[in-house]
Amino acid sequence: MTSGQFVSNCTADAMARAAQSLKSGSLIAFPTETVYGLGADATNPEAVAWIYEVKGRPADHPLIVHVADMQDIAQWSDEIPDYAIALARAFWPGPMTLILKRSSLAQDFITGGQETVGLRVPNHVIALALLSEFKKIGGKGIAAPSANRFGHVSPTTAQAVGDELSQYLAQDDLILDGGPSQVGVESTIIDCTTQSPKILRPGAITEEMIEEVTKLDLSYDASEIRVSGSLENHYSPSAQVVLDEIPSQGDGFIASIEIPTPDGVIRLASPANNEDFARVLYAALRSADEQSLSRVVVKQPSGDDISVAIRDRLLRASRGR
Ligand code: TXA
Ligand code: MG
Repeated sequence: MTSGQFVSNCTADAMARAAQSLKSGSLIAFPTETVYGLGADATNPEAVAWIYEVKGRPADHPLIVHVADMQDIAQWSDEIPDYAIALARAFWPGPMTLILKRSSLAQDFITGGQETVGLRVPNHVIALALLSEFKKIGGKGIAAPSANRFGHVSPTTAQAVGDELSQYLAQDDLILDGGPSQVGVESTIIDCTTQSPKILRPGAITEEMIEEVTKLDLSYDASEIRVSGSLENHYSPSAQVVLDEIPSQGDGFIASIEIPTPDGVIRLASPANNEDFARVLYAALRSADEQSLSRVVVKQPSGDDISVAIRDRLLRASRGR
């Protein structure tokens, strides 16, 4: 039996109803500007346990708590450094998650037993409407990982969420359709528990942007990010992902628009720039699986913009499941 009803008409009334069902313990998959999230009331241990069940995710992985407004993070953390406030002012609502020392509200079932909590104000009208309706009825925040099965590629459309999760969701769970995600890769995660900020996962908010706002030097150490036990180390399609090789007959191929497609190769995406690359990447990897391709060759974009995040996810994907 498949469940998880689609809601494509996300009116204010529909969001108020969705907030009520969150409150009563259901899951709501919702659009954000990065990727779709699978949300639950962040103070309800049974609902959060249901997220892990649906995702097939190990229970010690911490979840990001989404809130309606930057003021709301004060409930979740009572130790917020000035530079974190500067980042929140500059980039929220937006594709950035701050890791802060937790308050007693952030229980072990959210933080995976860690003393820190991840917080984000997403930049999407539907997510923000849901969050503010939830807040009106006393909700403190929505815990939401990406709405994919553990280790899979994050979904950037409601359809992709349904393909991943319908068979696992309950009758009352909802999937809100807000169109394709505009950023396309997960938020930048910034550890704000030390003297200066540290990027744990690259995203659309770049090192340069963070340094500009905080006036602090941050350490970005890619090898450290890759070995971090707290982060998923694979975002893989079923197809094998191969980086920067010449594609062979029958391979899928993702490369920027100026790179031609060799004969017999199946072009999956031709992004016009790095932002576009991020936006279309996950859908292109999914389409490789839909076409049952065994290999996808990706010509990686260069630069120190969002392409840092793209290369991070591609490296993980290329390591396979
Ligand atoms: O863009 C995003 O961040 C999306 C949308 C839905 O907001 N969410 C997302 O969640 O990517 P998820 O659970 O798929 O990835 C969050 C990552 C996980 O790798 C988790 O380990 C890490 O954030 N994380 C969460 N809380 C943390 C904490 N307190 N300390 C360190 N890492 C944390
Ligand atoms: Mg994820």
